[in-house]
Amino acid sequence: MNLKTFTKGQEFITTTVKKITDLLEQKPGTLYIALSGGKTPTPVYEALANNPDVDFNRIEWFVVDERYVPFDHLYSNYKMITKAFAKAGSLFQKHLHWFNTQPPAKVSAERYEEELKKIPNQEFDVVILGIGNDGHTASLFPGSPTLKERKHLAVHTINESAPNPPVAGRLTITWPVIMKSGEVVLLVSGKEKQEIMNELLHGKATASVLPAKKLLEHPNFTVHFLVGA
Ligand code: 6PG
Repeated sequence: MNLKTFTKGQEFITTTVKKITDLLEQKPGTLYIALSGGKTPTPVYEALANNPDVDFNRIEWFVVDERYVPFDHLYSNYKMITKAFAKAGSLFQKHLHWFNTQPPAKVSAERYEEELKKIPNQEFDVVILGIGNDGHTASLFPGSPTLKERKHLAVHTINESAPNPPVAGRLTITWPVIMKSGEVVLLVSGKEKQEIMNELLHGKATASVLPAKKLLEHPNFTVHFLVGA
């Protein structure tokens, strides 16, 4: 695990963006990148959209997880992500794969799984994740049966505690996809995340109570932590 802490928001953003631009330089062909929801990555996505070194013809973007709400809902990750990438225009939209929440939730998950199967060997180059105060990542929540999913690449799940925002229905990629990716980058920001970060990095909790712990098993796991924001 590679932990980088930042005190300045701009450095947090620049360093994360550089990961993607470096990868574009190093790897020929198409990059497959999964984008988390949440508040933390928004400025990073905006910076990617404004960066001339990001070749939007060469990246297929996938949404990590979604709330089971209409696409224009306040809590929709699709909405948050498309807004953040607005500057990249239709080229981004053309290469964005997202959970269509119009059909029944189970069907949404099945259709998204079909999209994921189009990725060579179902191997993302980078999966960008966040962590909740309860230790969830993507929509993989403490104690959820979804933590044990080994067959499906995407599933419908329920956030039992439905904290803030109060939407219990979720759609998410699963551990097999995340753990198979070339790299995982966990973006964390804020004082209120200090406690869960201490627990993640030094505590004894298992991945069934603190799902993000599983990420420590990933061979190429990076944490960018903007402290005190
Ligand atoms: C979502 C994600 C969730 C998120 C964390 C961190 O909200 O869409 O499911 O896993 O990444 O809750 O969120 P913040 O970045 O807002 O702290």
